Amino acid sequence: MTRVLITGANRGIGLALARQYAADSAEVIACCRNPSTARALRELVASTGGKVRTLPLDVADDASIASLKRAIGDLPLDVLINNAGINGTPKAQSAERIDVEGWMTTMRINALAPILIAQALRDNLLRGSDKKLVAISSDYASTGTNYGSSRDRYAYRASKAALNNGMRGLARDWADDGILVGILYPGWVRTDMGGERAAASPNSISAEHSALCLTRRIAELTPATSGAFLDYNGETLDW
Ligand SMILES: NC(=O)c1ccc[n+]([C@@H]2O[C@H](COP(=O)([O-])OP(=O)(O)OC[C@H]3O[C@@H](n4cnc5c(N)ncnc54)[C@H](OP(=O)(O)O)[C@@H]3O)[C@@H](O)[C@H]2O)c1
Repeated sequence: MTRVLITGANRGIGLALARQYAADSAEVIACCRNPSTARALRELVASTGGKVRTLPLDVADDASIASLKRAIGDLPLDVLINNAGINGTPKAQSAERIDVEGWMTTMRINALAPILIAQALRDNLLRGSDKKLVAISSDYASTGTNYGSSRDRYAYRASKAALNNGMRGLARDWADDGILVGILYPGWVRTDMGGERAAASPNSISAEHSALCLTRRIAELTPATSGAFLDYNGETLDW
């Protein structure tokens, strides 16, 4: 049975991924900051008869990452999905105004944490059969795509570009160990992050559809596509 660990699994795309993998009969380790208050996730745990379990993880906290590693010990992981992310704090950071602390927090959560978590759980991936490391990125990372809109997203754009660069480095440096790296744009998704505009737009997609497509892209990941930047439909995105 495939064993998948997902960060930020209490809502949005992370929760939808947990539901999709459980429906596909995978074993899911669903991580979030506070499992005791994650109502939808607790309902999923209760309804899936032991296939889904929760563990606490604040991706911005070194001690929390170390505690996660202690909790899972030597357990093999087939798929590790770095999904947790923030829009920026504050979301609006522009040519006119950069919030230094907020920028650093955004980089910490979106770009650095996925690498630290991958390092902490590398041995678990090596013990797994699939050895797939996945980062949920954004088209806002791309300087070749979607660069004309949203001029107030400097921190978010930079953090996702840095995420992509770090993940591409791991794809190169861990290839000899058989670790495959997926860098995936989930689409414009109707979640809290997608916000009111996504909720009102016919061009957005549901978290369920995004998760279904993402699980298919992860299943298709091979050495040939490891380190590529793909969208939820499998199309290649510009860096
Ligand atoms: N929605 C879109 O249109 C879209 C587009 C492109 C990329 N993405 C990417 O997709 C991923 C998921 O986004 P989403 O739309 O599902 O967003 P969301 O609904 O806002 O959910 C974000 C998730 O990340 C978690 N998170 C944030 N900071 C965390 C931390 N320090 N430690 C642990 N968990 C933390 C949140 O947990 P809490 O509940 O504890 O805050 C929540 O579970 C993100 O990486 C995002 O950048 C989304």
